[in-house]
Amino acid sequence: MESIQQKRILVTAALPYANGHLHLGHLAGAYLPADIYVRYQRLKQRDIVFICGSDEHGVPITITAEKEKTTPKAVVDRYHEANKKAFERFHMSFDSYSRTSLPLHHETAKEFFLDFYNKGILKEKAEKQLYCEKDAMFLADRYVEGTCPNCNNPGARGDQCENCGNWLNQEDLIDPKCKICASTPVLRETKHWYFPLGKYQEQLEVYVEERHKRDGWKDNVLQYCRSWFKDGLQDRAVTRDLTWGVPVPLEGYPNKVLYVWFDAVLGYISSTKEWANRKGNPDDWKRYWQQDDTKYVAFIGKDNVVFHCIVFPAMLMARDGYILPENVPANEFLNFEGQKFSKSRGWGIDLKDFLNEFPDADALRYAIAVNLPEYHDSDFYLRDYQARNNNELASILGNFVNRTLTFVQKNFDNTVPSQTALTDQDNAHLEYLKNAPAEIGNHYEQYRFRDGLLAVMNVARAANKYFNDSAPWKTINDDPERCRTAMHVCLQTVRTLAVLIEPVLPSAALKIWNMLNLKSLHAEQWDRAGIPALSPGHKLGGSKILFTRIEDKEIDRVLEQLEAESRKTESPKNSEVAPVKPQVDIEDFMKVDLRIAKVAACEKVKKSKKLLKISIDLGSEKRTVVAGIAEQYKPEDLIGKNVVIVANLKPAKLMGVESKGMILAAIGENDNPILLMPEKDLSPGSTVR
Ligand code: MF3
Ligand code: ZN
Repeated sequence: MESIQQKRILVTAALPYANGHLHLGHLAGAYLPADIYVRYQRLKQRDIVFICGSDEHGVPITITAEKEKTTPKAVVDRYHEANKKAFERFHMSFDSYSRTSLPLHHETAKEFFLDFYNKGILKEKAEKQLYCEKDAMFLADRYVEGTCPNCNNPGARGDQCENCGNWLNQEDLIDPKCKICASTPVLRETKHWYFPLGKYQEQLEVYVEERHKRDGWKDNVLQYCRSWFKDGLQDRAVTRDLTWGVPVPLEGYPNKVLYVWFDAVLGYISSTKEWANRKGNPDDWKRYWQQDDTKYVAFIGKDNVVFHCIVFPAMLMARDGYILPENVPANEFLNFEGQKFSKSRGWGIDLKDFLNEFPDADALRYAIAVNLPEYHDSDFYLRDYQARNNNELASILGNFVNRTLTFVQKNFDNTVPSQTALTDQDNAHLEYLKNAPAEIGNHYEQYRFRDGLLAVMNVARAANKYFNDSAPWKTINDDPERCRTAMHVCLQTVRTLAVLIEPVLPSAALKIWNMLNLKSLHAEQWDRAGIPALSPGHKLGGSKILFTRIEDKEIDRVLEQLEAESRKTESPKNSEVAPVKPQVDIEDFMKVDLRIAKVAACEKVKKSKKLLKISIDLGSEKRTVVAGIAEQYKPEDLIGKNVVIVANLKPAKLMGVESKGMILAAIGENDNPILLMPEKDLSPGSTVR
């Protein structure tokens, strides 16, 4: 890596949708790593700005509003406030937490659109979409219901049938109905503006590879980008037929808004503008977005990679004069008690609820930080949280700070004692302290927050060992001078630790700072954290408990509540299980010819994000089938696998490709298809009954 030293740093964290409460999974994905990074860089005295805000457009928000019989505005107002507050309680240190419904943001997004429009970058294309005449609107996929042409399920959605798992186009639905008013929509031509992503492919590939070389992109992010490039980038519609969003700023386009992702990523820029305005220096945002000597780091969760590594950079390239992300550190997902966070299943815990039960944000930050899903999905368990709090924060870090300060209070009049001759052991410990900031900083610079935190805790471990080896409780009687020196070194260590823990444990750091009776922790320099700075004779503040132990019964209670909650949301879910269809005769069933087939080749269907074109070997013949599993399975992972297919299904065309047969899949959580595969290898063509 040839990391270059930039002058200033711009950090953004994905704008959460104002359509629900933040939960612990969000924190582990983007927010906590971003905050650790920013707090660390601030202590490095770098010029840095930290940007976030609410993403307030998009169809799910309008659906929430309809469900609740209220307006989208009311929905986003509520969640914006709630999420902003929850972030504050979690001690996120954003410089700006803005919203995409603000006029300043709308202006910014329109300006980008118009710039592209005026330069002739955008292309208009006509397409047919379902239109509800009663509601006078084009219907987004989630607003249409009808009968599935493949399996006759009457409840299929505009984009997918949950019964057979096939992905659909709106116009394939038999007897479509508007979900808002239940009337029958008609197909109407509508025009949309497209951004020619493909034209930027070459530039984007160079961009990604070059930045990776310079700043070391994470493997998951890199692989994801490369696979997008391999498939070839397609034009993307940047407008939608909706009324909630940023209106298309052209005459003759009523009821059209910019696509939510087009405007959302620009929210970073408008949020920075708002920050500059608030400071009374309206042009200051430009230093961060338009000067080459700024390093831009965009923290996100893995589900946002394509928008931040491909779409947004392409938009910035097309705009000219803007810098691009230097790195996009995306984390994997955090599971909760062994299961995925799921709103629909009522599984997980919101940040605000967690902090109501356990108000110490630092303890939560710590438990998430040691477990960040940096390379793989990881798990959050309440018992682990308790153990980390009790056995690490309280017993190691808290204990060292506490025993040092109470000892000095009791024996040295709460004043820093002077040091005399240093032993080898003192010197070794001081040397270790001196090197710790650079070692930890090196991890943080490379977005390895778990490793960084581990190194911080090792300092606390070494501190306890130093205290024990020095045995001040003995030397106070038989070698007072030795005792004074050791306690002098312990106090310097306490100060070092306060600075080193600040990025992860900001409140504990401040508490220690006050116990040491020092001024302004934030003016402190990371690089000098390991150098002794407390002078003999300095009067200390009072010692306080840093971390409170969490009892078993507190955890038990929360676990019980969680169980009860998820049972509550499970029961309506059970009644949603599709009713068993009317009985069929065995002869009827036997008409269905189920076979084992081996996947010989597999590729994505062009222009479809959901469909895979799969060549299968049926023993007696080779065939092509199309399946809506592209979002769950990579083509290369399927090759050589045995699948079950309906071999005598009438052929059907999907997105222009003829499918001869259907691959069987179970419909899992969130309607994700899960392929059925035999438990042992079989020869192609084997029958299934
Ligand atoms: N709201 C999106 C999500 O929660 C993230 C948007 S990031 C932005 O997945 F850059 F587009 F704002
Ligand atoms: Zn309608």
